[in-house]
Amino acid sequence: MTVRPLVAGNWKMNGTKESYEEFAKIAAGYDAALAEKIDMLVCPPAVLLAQFAEVENLPVGAQNCHAAASGAHTGDISAEMVANVGGKYVIVGHSERREGYGETDADVAAKAEAAWRAGLVAIVCIGESLEQREAGETIAVVTEQITKSLPDATTSANTVVAYEPIWAIGTGKTPTADDVAEVHAALRKSLVERFGEDGEKIRLLYGGSVKPTNASELLALPNVNGALVGGASLKAADFLGIAEAYK
Ligand code: G3P
Repeated sequence: MTVRPLVAGNWKMNGTKESYEEFAKIAAGYDAALAEKIDMLVCPPAVLLAQFAEVENLPVGAQNCHAAASGAHTGDISAEMVANVGGKYVIVGHSERREGYGETDADVAAKAEAAWRAGLVAIVCIGESLEQREAGETIAVVTEQITKSLPDATTSANTVVAYEPIWAIGTGKTPTADDVAEVHAALRKSLVERFGEDGEKIRLLYGGSVKPTNASELLALPNVNGALVGGASLKAADFLGIAEAYK
């Protein structure tokens, strides 16, 4: 089955309004030839969403949302607010939120539902720690996470899954191609068992130290339908260099 790839950038807590220049370079590089083959997306800090959303050819998304639509939640933003300023996607359950803010699989599932309520696509992140990998628990851990973090109403249109081994994030280390293929095959199996034929179409992104130099190998693996890129999405040349793997 052909699944249209997605190359998404997660800027994390990096960027200022002056970063618009870099964002515009990414948008310019996401030309017709690339757009014919893949989707691209940038998730900047929330304060830049409205500004960046004005560029029409490159969608933007948020890095997190609250499960509620509005209310007394100081410091939070809702999926509705993201949609209101032109966002199309929201990342939920990134390991930096699971670890730093104690977000559970149930919290992540509630946020995915909030994303759908607002008409956004949820990018649900999962991934094992180094300790879990060394203990041989990777497949069990990610299978449990994907099961519990995806609500029953998940479809290929409303959700993207990103596999991000925690130990590969921002470290320059990546799993071997065989390891990535093994995890993605297990994730695909779980999606198909639960969602049937549509499970074949749910995009499975790999994230963790993706760079222009390793993108061709990682993105060519079976069941890898794109990448969620952190550090290398901050520079247009690097981010576009990753997307070039699909040219
Ligand atoms: O969400 C993307 C991410 O966690 C990977 O970060 O910097 O290793 O590409 P990085």
